[in-house]
Amino acid sequence: MKLTIALPKGRLGDLSWDYLLSPLNNPFDERKLSFENETCQVLWVKPSDVITYVMAGIADIGIVGQDTLDESDPDVYRLKELPFGACQLVLAGFEKTDTALKEGLKVATKYPNLTKKYFKNKQQSITLLPLQGSVELAPVVGLSDVIVDIVETGSTLKANGLIILDVIQDSKAIVFANKARYRFQLEAIESLLLKAERNSHA
Ligand code: PRP
Repeated sequence: MKLTIALPKGRLGDLSWDYLLSPLNNPFDERKLSFENETCQVLWVKPSDVITYVMAGIADIGIVGQDTLDESDPDVYRLKELPFGACQLVLAGFEKTDTALKEGLKVATKYPNLTKKYFKNKQQSITLLPLQGSVELAPVVGLSDVIVDIVETGSTLKANGLIILDVIQDSKAIVFANKARYRFQLEAIESLLLKAERNSHA
């Protein structure tokens, strides 16, 4: 049976394709959502949906950022950290924002679970504002005091006049597997990852 891989559409998906499947050209665009050849099938899905496809066993393995995996903490095998997709989950806001003292600090984020955990460790009560994207806008227009979000180059924070107030965790892309499917596809998965690692050093 063919190995099925779920990749997160967008920049991380492009890097993942090149890592796993080069020299094959990436066939995906806005409309093409799956690819198949003699050895594998690749599904091109929203980053937040990669875990759903793997948990359902539709995909054997998937790639997402460690932050995404930690946020929903599914019962999967984390197989390998990849040499790309490096970023940080940070607390960000305006330079003058005093986060420490304020009770009921308004925090906008796409990562509600990691945010709750972070503030629980600090024993600080917050008002959580879950968003789906464009999180940097929230403090600018007064929806929130601060944000918890991913920073890669820092250009989105800068463009919105925000700075990093604290680094919560580092993150990289991770290959993970459905636990039951891993047993069936062990050889195919191991050989794909070995080949990819060799190519990345070539
Ligand atoms: C991510 C993240 C930041 C941005 C950080 O958003 O949530 O907004 O990238 O990248 P940078 O530090 O290189 O500027 P994404 O592009 O996934 O879009 P979204 O805001 O719609 O979720």
